[in-house]
Amino acid sequence: MKLRPRFDQPTLRPGQIARDEFDRIKAEHTHMLVVVRVEMRCVVGCAGFHEHADDDSVKAADLRHGIVNSTREFGNRCRAVAKCDRDALQCLETAAQGKRATLSAWLARDWRLLYPENVNREEIAQGCLDQAGWAAKLGSPMYEALLRRMAEDVRAGGPCLAALEPHMPRSRMLAPLLLLAAIHRMVLEGQLPGAARFYPSAGGQADEDALWPQLLEAVPHAALPACVQTNEVERSRALLPGFLEVVRQTGLPLRLLEIGASAGLNLRWDHFPFLDVPATIRVAERRGCDLNPIDPTLDESRAALLCFVWPDQTDRLQLLAEVIEIARRVPARVDRCDAVDWLRIHLADPRPSVATIVYHSVVLPYLTEENRENLRRVIEDAGSGATADAPLAWLSMEPGADQAEVHLTMWPGGARRLIAQADFHGRDVKVL
Ligand SMILES: C[S@@+](CC[C@H](N)C(=O)[O-])C[C@H]1O[C@@H](n2cnc3c(N)ncnc32)[C@H](O)[C@@H]1O
Repeated sequence: MKLRPRFDQPTLRPGQIARDEFDRIKAEHTHMLVVVRVEMRCVVGCAGFHEHADDDSVKAADLRHGIVNSTREFGNRCRAVAKCDRDALQCLETAAQGKRATLSAWLARDWRLLYPENVNREEIAQGCLDQAGWAAKLGSPMYEALLRRMAEDVRAGGPCLAALEPHMPRSRMLAPLLLLAAIHRMVLEGQLPGAARFYPSAGGQADEDALWPQLLEAVPHAALPACVQTNEVERSRALLPGFLEVVRQTGLPLRLLEIGASAGLNLRWDHFPFLDVPATIRVAERRGCDLNPIDPTLDESRAALLCFVWPDQTDRLQLLAEVIEIARRVPARVDRCDAVDWLRIHLADPRPSVATIVYHSVVLPYLTEENRENLRRVIEDAGSGATADAPLAWLSMEPGADQAEVHLTMWPGGARRLIAQADFHGRDVKVL
């Protein structure tokens, strides 16, 4: 059935699309762009959408991003552009149902749906451009330039489109980063000597013009990883105020439990030379889990450890190399396990004479909504059994609206506090 002509109209007046027609359209199309005009307090509404977004958290983050990015406020109203696939749209509806006023506003106001291929392509291009914006903001001119070119290539139907398209449902906003990491990994593994000449991480000189044709050639051969798997050691900068606060309040040695630890580098934060760690800190145990742990002590892990770092950020690469050396002498075990299953085991009983700290950095966006809820429940249940001699802390550095937020909860007690903010790489830490 051809719906395009009708729905390409720039604006449909309220009530022009009947509810059953709307449902039928959703059933027939997997991707859509919805322009919604809602009456609500903007921040509450956007947060509501995000909270209610269903089980694919990456998608949920994108949805929030899409809404926040294009929201314009008019008093208590806002106009938002939500890029949705069918499931995400369902989430929006669920969110709206929880707020009757929003539901009526949302469905009664003007909205339009654009289908499907053009939106798809434009959506992917936009994902590249959004990431280009972050690369510019966080100091990688090389990736900024490459991501802009990738957006052009996507619009032109080039190899980047073919590489990114299959990953969009799983990882919309992040797919461009997965592709760049896959190519970076090939460079670091010596598979692309021509491209390596333009990668500072491989001893080359950044030159996007010269690199671009080589990169395009490599794109069809890139195996995109399943998940963004960073090893951002500077995130320990942002977590440090939390560790110190736990020591200050308990005076006990620390039992470190990190979930989504990747290679477990941030389990060795007390040895990082770039952190100001008091000599009195004692770590009794360091242990982590990840769905795909990387052993930092093996030479063959190097490319996997480095490939998500932006190749022209040689200072970050240098820091990572130093920490990999630390990992060789300070042991920390990372189990291959889902975070919730792992915590159920390791928090089963209170551990006396240590302060147990469960912590994570930039992991929640990769958990399903259900998983996040279970995580909270497991930690809070363990918290309810904590005592002064066996306290529990939950420390997290996770994305907020446009920077990372560090929260600390301590039991006995259980009050949750925002204690710091930082950029997504753990720099510019502001202790609150
Ligand atoms: C963006 S990386 C962050 C890694 C590290 N915490 C850091 O700050 O650089 C997210 C990590 O979470 C892991 N992960 C995703 N889902 C997980 C789950 N259900 N249980 C355990 N780890 C998970 C991924 O394998 C990946 O290593």
